[in-house]
Amino acid sequence: MKAQLAALVLAAGQGKRMRSRLPKVLHPCAGEPLVVHAVRLALARRARPVVVVIDPHGTRIRETLVAAFPKAPLLFAVQREPLGTGDAVRAGLAALPTWRGRVLILYGDVALLRPETVAPLERALKKHSLAMLTARLPRPTGYGRVIRDGDRALRVVEEKDAAAAERRIDEVNVGVYLCGAALLRRAVGRLDRKNAQHEIYLTDVVAIAAGLSGAVPVLVDDASEVLGVNTRAELAAAEKILRARLVQAHQARGVTFHAPEHTWLDRTVVLGADVVIGVGVQLYGNTRVGAGAQIEGPSVLRDAVIGPGARVHAFSHAEGAVLERGAVAGPFARLRPGAHLEEGARVGNFVELKKARLGRGAKANHLAYLGDAEIGAASNIGAGTITCNYDGGPIKNRTRIEAGAFIGSNSTLVAPVSVGEGAYVAAGSTITRDVPQDALAFGRARQENRDGYATRLRRRLGATPKTRGGH
Ligand code: UD1
Ligand code: MG
Repeated sequence: MKAQLAALVLAAGQGKRMRSRLPKVLHPCAGEPLVVHAVRLALARRARPVVVVIDPHGTRIRETLVAAFPKAPLLFAVQREPLGTGDAVRAGLAALPTWRGRVLILYGDVALLRPETVAPLERALKKHSLAMLTARLPRPTGYGRVIRDGDRALRVVEEKDAAAAERRIDEVNVGVYLCGAALLRRAVGRLDRKNAQHEIYLTDVVAIAAGLSGAVPVLVDDASEVLGVNTRAELAAAEKILRARLVQAHQARGVTFHAPEHTWLDRTVVLGADVVIGVGVQLYGNTRVGAGAQIEGPSVLRDAVIGPGARVHAFSHAEGAVLERGAVAGPFARLRPGAHLEEGARVGNFVELKKARLGRGAKANHLAYLGDAEIGAASNIGAGTITCNYDGGPIKNRTRIEAGAFIGSNSTLVAPVSVGEGAYVAAGSTITRDVPQDALAFGRARQENRDGYATRLRRRLGATPKTRGGH
């Protein structure tokens, strides 16, 4: 039987180097807070429970994690003061008073590690007191350095405490450790603050373990996984790596990216086979793109559902919108929450939709605002059509346009109002009453022409006569 594993994820402290009001571990990386990545890693290693160490203001961290992993066995431990990573582990262990199994320790600011990279720690621990991940970095500045004796780690020295020769060591402490609970409990009880930062360093546990049955460093092959996020620059670097990884995974499943490095992708986005993503496309949240759909860049999609074979042309913005199979939007379309294009419907340039449904094959190709509206199949909405849904109060009134209707250009439909099936609305109309099926509605002043009036007016004003034809 496999020995039991618990995890401690250290997520307390503000993360001063971020210079942010948001706690460091809540900064998103590929659409999810750093700490979500860390907890996911612990759960992927089958750690039960996962104890997250937060500070007394860590309510948002707790809420974020409970929402992200509603069924996971999460516990929260509060570290009263940010006295250092060793103290954070003490706080975390207090939530596991009777735990006798192993403990996996992770820092909440490490978002890029893969579960398979952490797995070898389990075998390495067998005969030793502690196993830890290390990596060789061309620029190790800022990380704790690993002092070795052959294949054992003797201790870790933090950058600020390191002598010049120690700083030249390129093997760094990643911040992922595995050890037995009993040893860990004893070791953190012995930590002091005699160092440059007057902090209780977890890293001093390595020297204690080395003096018992030894501490084993496990070198990570891909150094890009170990980046700890302490600054905004490191956050951007981590995000870039994570996005590149996501793009590669999608490419392997048959997605074309015209410019992988200029595509922004949250981890939660789902892309079907033969999807084509253009230059500068940003896909956020629970966006799903069906097989064969094409998204031209630059476009921004958030929580959008794009059906198979649908097409989003350049410079479009969609949030909480649905495009069914073969629907087309843009260029320059704005699809707000509740916009819904049924199969083959089209929305063209400078058209804004909000809580509006376009039936099969309906078209609104230019310059329109359609809000709180139901538009029937194969209707044609002319340029400049506006649904006037807002009367200044809290209720938005609805417009209903039945199938096959034709709304002439520059019409305003003052809701609540309906246009019957197959009805026509003359261009430039203001429609305030329901239009019956197959009727033609005029809602504009009748035009009057006065013959010769302009000539008489010019004469009276002494204006120069109009030149006829040519230039
Ligand atoms: C730490 C390690 C360093 C390692 C590096 C890897 C120590 C002393 N140093 O340095 O050897 O190379 O990570 O990225 O451990 N935290 C708490 N309570 C505290 C302090 C920190 O919960 O009192 C949490 C933070 O939220 C953070 C994590 O612990 O997620 C690590 O702390 P951080 O300040 O980022 O340590 P580093 O300086 O990066
Ligand atoms: Mg760090």
